[in-house]
Amino acid sequence: MKITMFSSQCYDKKYFLDANQNFGYQLTFHEARLEPATVELARGADAVCAFVNDDIGEVTIEALKAIDVPIIALRCAGYNNVDLRVADKLGIHVVRVPSYSPYAVAEHTVALMLSLNRKIHRAYSRVRDGNFSLQGLTGFDMHGKIVGVIGTGRIGSIVLNILKGFGCKLFAFDTQPDEALKNIGVKYLPMSELLQQVDIISFHCPLTPETFHLINDDSLEMMKDGVMIINTSRGAIVDAGSTIEGLKSGKIGYLGLDVYEQEGDLFFHDLSDTIIRDDVFERLLTFPNVLITGHQGFFTEEALVNIAVTTLENLSRYALAKPLINTLHSQQAIRSTRKN
Ligand code: NAI
Repeated sequence: MKITMFSSQCYDKKYFLDANQNFGYQLTFHEARLEPATVELARGADAVCAFVNDDIGEVTIEALKAIDVPIIALRCAGYNNVDLRVADKLGIHVVRVPSYSPYAVAEHTVALMLSLNRKIHRAYSRVRDGNFSLQGLTGFDMHGKIVGVIGTGRIGSIVLNILKGFGCKLFAFDTQPDEALKNIGVKYLPMSELLQQVDIISFHCPLTPETFHLINDDSLEMMKDGVMIINTSRGAIVDAGSTIEGLKSGKIGYLGLDVYEQEGDLFFHDLSDTIIRDDVFERLLTFPNVLITGHQGFFTEEALVNIAVTTLENLSRYALAKPLINTLHSQQAIRSTRKN
């Protein structure tokens, strides 16, 4: 089987080549994103493998069909960048890695919370500069604080369990509440009530029409002054423009992002020698109470091994004509924020 890998970095190559020792497929790695202009790179392939910021909309899928690529393997869980309706219509299979390490993302989420709270990002620079003043570094006890988690699936439930250990008061909102979480003291509330009560809010739901820009001027208005907002899910859940106003007014006391709506043009690349033209992103970086990481929530040893193995297993089922698992169909279609 010939597999063309898009958006691949050196670590993808390392983990996929290791995992491929048990499969023996022919892997071709490209740094380029999968998008209409790059589909040609996959000519002759039996499968393409894509990642979170690839553009797998209508035009791309039609172009893949035209060069007879029958299957798209996502090496990620989220699939908001795929037009599943078109894939279904054209008979192109889409498979993904639904869960590779929810612990990785959950632990990164809590790392953002603690870093922002205790201002570790600022303390790190100060100490290196010989500045041992504590002025401005005051934090707060996590114990007793009210945390609201939106989306209590694999990742959100682990976040809640970790925060239970800190002695936080746990609120949640999910369209499908998890009864087991109620046993550890999680209280499900309507979204508007949750927004009004929490000290910290963390997003772990998929990007859908319902969750698009959940954080906006109106929802911010409902929240406590100085609220901490954490988003490690998908960038477009938060309207970055609104957060700038919220930060300027003091409504938002802390903002931790691992994802950003326009991240496709930025993340996963070394742009340190270039001028970043995204003014919203650059403005966010000027706030001392904003901490942004470049979509690294998933990035642990365990997760990278699982991603590579599961992706190749997904494809081997296709190669061996076994029933596919981890498939996606248009009933699961969710809004793509990308114009395709
Ligand atoms: P999951 O499918 O296990 O859980 C998602 C939960 O969100 C479900 O319980 C679902 O009922 C709930 N949900 C759906 N629509 C909702 C709505 N409108 N309002 C509130 N809740 C809603 O997914 P998992 O594995 O926990 O991942 C969550 C998200 O994390 C993914 O969709 C993905 O966007 C993101 N992610 C981020 C990574 C990173 O590296 N930063 C890595 C992996 C996933």
